[in-house]
Amino acid sequence: MITFPEGFRWGAATASYQIEGAVDEGGRGPSIWDVFSHTPGKTADGHTGDVACDHYHRYPEDVAIMADLGLKAYRFSIAWPRVQPSGSGDPNPAGLDFYDRLVDALLTADIEPVATLYHWDLPAALDWRDPATPERFAEYTAIMHARLGDRVRTWTTLNEPWVSAFVGHGSGRHAPGVADPAAAFTVAHHLLTAHMLGVRALRAGGAEEVSLTLNLTPMVGDPDVTTLPDGLANRLFLDPALKDGRYPDDVAAHIAKFTDLGDLPYEPIDLLGVNYYTVNRLAADPASKGHDEFPGCEGIAWLPPRGEPTEMNWEVIPQGLEDLLVRLSVEYPGVPLMITENGAAYPDSVDDQDRIAFLDGHFRAAANAIERGADLRGYLVWSLLDNFEWARGYHKRFGLVRVDYDTLERTPRSSAHWYREVIARNGLL
Ligand code: FCB
Repeated sequence: MITFPEGFRWGAATASYQIEGAVDEGGRGPSIWDVFSHTPGKTADGHTGDVACDHYHRYPEDVAIMADLGLKAYRFSIAWPRVQPSGSGDPNPAGLDFYDRLVDALLTADIEPVATLYHWDLPAALDWRDPATPERFAEYTAIMHARLGDRVRTWTTLNEPWVSAFVGHGSGRHAPGVADPAAAFTVAHHLLTAHMLGVRALRAGGAEEVSLTLNLTPMVGDPDVTTLPDGLANRLFLDPALKDGRYPDDVAAHIAKFTDLGDLPYEPIDLLGVNYYTVNRLAADPASKGHDEFPGCEGIAWLPPRGEPTEMNWEVIPQGLEDLLVRLSVEYPGVPLMITENGAAYPDSVDDQDRIAFLDGHFRAAANAIERGADLRGYLVWSLLDNFEWARGYHKRFGLVRVDYDTLERTPRSSAHWYREVIARNGLL
């Protein structure tokens, strides 16, 4: 029997654009994901978030499902364009009201709300390449904290700035679909600036626990080959956010080949959110053009996953999570950790033994990391529901709960029932 620390925060995560739908309701303005998903050829089969899981209307049912699973915490994101339809100025009361109702429903069900302020749905009027956007983010952050800060204890500024910067502006596979390496670095810098100004706004409002969620991808291979990709994916964000507001020297020297970045307004955080899915396997290959999401990595090859991958073609490797958590606690001591996303897409079924095996392996890895000294406070599974998986549309299903996209009916999968037991015993048999 493996038991987790007392008070361990078991939960699940979602994101606004992936589940809410109701894109034209309650005064919501367009986001870059509305524009992108409605542009032909950008998402699988032209899927959009117009309806998604219709969570905007069905949130009471979804909160009831969470309560039935015994979730202790629920990580959701706030759609900035519901609150500021054109990205600045006075808040839209109907948008604020929606999150107010959601938070109240969670608290009534004894579920702790963990609010992410930005999970990729930027108001379409804004652009992360613009140096004024971090200020806009800080204003929006202050608005949200003023409204929900009496009930929401844990705040996350950004979800996965690496993806916003390098998939949104490097490869262009995500909104806004820009493919320009220099812009990707500029955007990374503006996102880190926005994070820090957001932290400042949250502290000024008296927020209790302030965090940032990063997608961290261990690089597997010879250190000669892995150091730069690790710098670009991981240390580019970890060092400034957790150490001192400065880019690591090797990363700064690399960025200087593309563009000049200024200083960051460093603010420390209370908790690091870790999103972990897989590792990248790398090898030296003089013929390789590198990777369009890792500018300047020519001569490095990204190798295929080993073993049976998930439907995303991501290698299943729980050891990567264990080692990552230990690495973080050694290299960035004193910052508590929470897994804010981990989970898997598998072919659609209700009896999802594959997902149970995936989660069981990763929960054990987390327990091992705690044994090895990692200060891990919680584990939020991605995702509560099947949802709009960005450029892959509705084809990839990550839910503990199945969603029928014709009827919008929710059906808890075997993994949901299994997870209920894990939470109830705070451990694994
Ligand atoms: C992460 C995102 C999340 C979801 C999972 C599968 O990168 O934060 O929204 O799409 O991947």
